[in-house]
Formats: sequence, C-alpha cells, structure tokens
Amino acid sequence: RFVLTKMRVVPKGAFAGLLDLEKIEISQNDALEVIEANAFSNLPKLHEIRIEKANNLVYIDADAFQHLPSLRYLLISNTGLRFLPAVHKVQSFQKVLLDIQDNINIRVIERNSFMGLSSESVILWLNKNGIREIENHAFNGTYLDELNLSDNHNLEKLPNEVFQGANGPVVLDISSTKISFLPSHGLEHIKKLRARSTYNLKKLPDLSKFRSLIEANFTYPSHCCAFTNWKRQNTELHPICIMSQAKKDLKEQPGEKLQIQSASEDYISSYGIGFDPAEHDFDYGLCNEVVNVACSPKPDAFNPCEDIMGYNILRVLIWFISILAVTGNIVVLIILISSQYKLTVPRFLMCNLAFADLCIGIYLLFIASVDIQTKSQYYNYAIDWQTGAGCNTAGFFTVFASELSVYTLTVITLERWHTITYAMQLHRKVRLRHAVIIMVFGWLFAFTVALLPIFGVSSYMK
Ligand SMILES: *[C@@H]1O[C@H](CO)[C@@H](O)[C@H](O)[C@H]1NC(C)=O
Ligand SMILES: *[C@@H]1O[C@H](CO)[C@@H](O)[C@H](O)[C@H]1NC(C)=O
Ligand SMILES: *[C@@H]1O[C@H](CO)[C@@H](O)[C@H](O)[C@H]1NC(C)=O
Repeated sequence: RFVLTKMRVVPKGAFAGLLDLEKIEISQNDALEVIEANAFSNLPKLHEIRIEKANNLVYIDADAFQHLPSLRYLLISNTGLRFLPAVHKVQSFQKVLLDIQDNINIRVIERNSFMGLSSESVILWLNKNGIREIENHAFNGTYLDELNLSDNHNLEKLPNEVFQGANGPVVLDISSTKISFLPSHGLEHIKKLRARSTYNLKKLPDLSKFRSLIEANFTYPSHCCAFTNWKRQNTELHPICIMSQAKKDLKEQPGEKLQIQSASEDYISSYGIGFDPAEHDFDYGLCNEVVNVACSPKPDAFNPCEDIMGYNILRVLIWFISILAVTGNIVVLIILISSQYKLTVPRFLMCNLAFADLCIGIYLLFIASVDIQTKSQYYNYAIDWQTGAGCNTAGFFTVFASELSVYTLTVITLERWHTITYAMQLHRKVRLRHAVIIMVFGWLFAFTVALLPIFGVSSYMK
C-alpha cells in the first residue's frame, strides 16, 4: 500500500520480480504524476490494482500494464488522466472488473479500447467520468457482461456500430446521460437496461431488437406501455422447437429447402440430439413460451398508455362540462360588462370569478381535444406532449385559473361579510379601488404560482 506518499513517479519495473504479489493499492498521493512503462508487468499472482485519489496523475504509459494473467480488479478513480489507460497487454485469464470512475478529464473512448484485457468476460464501470464521445467498435473483442456509463452528463450519443465486434453487453446502464438514441446494432444480448433520468431518450428502437430483455428501467412511463403489450418469444428455445419451425418454413417456402436443411443439420450437430424419437414425446407448448419484460416506471392514471380519459363516461363529461363552462362564463362576462349600471364591487369581483372559470373551461376543452387526437395511442405522443409546449400551456392555464378562482371566491366572501357587519357605517364601505388593489395582488399571485413549474420549480409533466 502506498498511501499519502510524496512519490511523483511509479518507475519502470517498480514491482519487477515480486512474483507472489497479489494486491497493489496506491491511494491519496497528490504528488503522483506519472506511471512509467512496465510499472505493473509480469506479476503472475497479482489480482487487484487500485489507483485512486491522485489528482495530478496525468500520464500512464501505454505499456504500464502487461501480462497480468490473474488480474480481476483494476480501479482507477479520481485522477487527472485525460485518456483511458491502455489495457490491451493485460491478457488476464480471469473475469475482469475495470472500474474507472470520477476522472473528469477523460473525454473519449476510442475504438478497441478494451481489447486484450481478458480472455474471459469483462465488466466495465465507467461512471462519472467526463466522457463525451464513444467511438464505433469501442468494445471490439470483448465479452461484455456489464457496461455502466451512468452519470457521464455530457455523453450525447452511442453511435450505431459501438457494440460491433463485442459479445454483449448483457447489462447496460446509461442513466443520467444525454443519450437520445440507442444504437441499432448490438442490443440483442441486453437482459437488463437502465436509463433513469435519461431525459433525452424519447424514442426507443424497434422492440424486436431487444431479443433477450428481461428488465428495463426507463425515465418515461410511456416507454413501458410498449412492453406491456409485447410478449417476447423466448430466445433460449429447445432445439426441437427450432427444428419444427424450420420444417414449417420449409413447407411454406419449398424454394429455400436446401438452405434450411443445412441449417437444421447444423443444429443437430451442435446440440448432438437425435431428433426423431425425442420429437415424439416433446411438449410443443414449450415452443410458444413467452417472456414478460419487467418494466418501470409503470404507467398510471397520470401517465396512461392508451387514453388520457380512461373511461368513455369521462370523455363525454369533459366535453359537456367544458362547453358549459365556456359558454356560461362568457355570457356572465358579457352581461356584467355591458350592463348600463355602474360597476360595483361585487360585480367587479364576479367578473374576475367568471374570467377564472372561463380559463378552466378553456383548459378542459384543450385536454379534451388532445384526448381525441391521441385516442387509443396516447403512448406514442406522451413524451412529446409532456415535455412540449402544449402541456406547459395547459398546466399554466389550470393552475393560474384555479388559484385565481379560489382567491376571488375568498375575496367575495370577505367582502360580503364586511358589508353585512358594517352595514350601518358608510365610511367603512369597501371601495372599488380597494377591490382593484386586492385583485391585482391576486392576479400576480396566481400568475407567479402558475409560472414556477415553467421555470423548473416542480413540473407539469404529470
Ligand atoms: C476488431 O477486432 C478484430 C480482432 O479481434 C480486428 O481484426 C478488427 O480490425 C477490429 N475492428 C476494428 C474496426 O478495429
Ligand atoms: C451503475 O452505476 C451506478 C453508480 O455507481 C449504480 O448506482 C447503478 O446501480 C449501476 N447500474 C447497474 C445496472 O448496476
Ligand atoms: C427496475 O425495474 C424493475 C422491474 O420493474 C424494478 O423491480 C426495479 O425496482 C427497478 N429499479 C430501479 C432502480 O428503478
């Protein structure tokens, strides 16, 4: 262990000849700047290297890690490195966990970055770095068990060929990144996908690409709508199922006979199963086995899948109520304003109330028309609607109008109470200018409250 030392360099061959060495920890060395070639090489029993909290470490030689056949864990975190360390000469025979976190200057993952790290599978924890770009073929030549890219807040893109040449990933985490599209190739191994707080990921690729998916965590509930109605065929089917499918295809398309026959022969030789006797007792029900994907966040009343209005009765009622509210309040406004009598305090307050309720009517009309437009397939529109201008406008309207309406009702009540209590004292009468001041305050209040979510205090997404 090298903790809190003043060393500046880990020199060439620093650990040469220490054939029984199992672990190296280099931690909290502010002076450390350079790790030279062959610093960690030819150490047959070494299984763990930790290099952490070395803010000034900016250079690790490309030949620093060589021939570490037992390596299982390599940690490099909290350093000033600008590039991923080269690991292609590690050549471990073990499963390797490469844990590279909190290196805010690492911006790019180049192609073939992890090739040669291990002949077994690898787990890559690359969280909380400054990664902005991952090149195509970055994971070429690896059995990628897990890839965790969460909290790379500037990462916007996974290019289409990024997983080309890799077997995996089986687990992929892109939470808290700015990724907006998943690559179109290489999703077929993913069993577990996590994309929490990935607000830019609004569209998913074709679901048939997720051939192995078992569990998914998204940011938007509507992504789970697609999965609730989607039953994936089990990919790990018994060879007999594959065989019988091939036979069925053969009947339908005799032209492709040769090809399919050789395909099924491949299956027979690779599984080493005699088909004819086994086929007889086989439970063909197993061939139609389907797998449900566990998906969260689940859709709910605020985030429905098919319809904003879950019941037809609501759909009828919302039109009825909104049309009534709009026409009724317009009539009230027209009568009050155009009346030839003088504008009194109660009449002035009633105008305000009618206006507030008119806004609620308009809001309901708006929601009702969005409901009609997106009928039966709200999930296709949900994210654009919830993150777009429409939802903010509707949200503003309803909060503004209901705050103003309740405020005005309260003022009307107080004004009635005051008038009755002081009926005999004319000098204490509420004057119109008092009412105007009180209502100006009410408008400002309702306006401010309704604007808060638009400026990021809470939100109108629900
Ligand atoms: C991917 O790795 C293979 C060797 O495993 C290599 O031949 C090939 O050139 C690599 N692909 C790219 C695009 O670098
Ligand atoms: C990815 O890393 C983050 C942060 O360390 C962790 O919370 C998360 O559980 C990891 N994801 C998976 C799928 O294990
Ligand atoms: C991910 O989804 C699964 C299945 O719905 C759920 O059980 C799990 O709690 C979710 N995890 C997170 C971190 O949301």
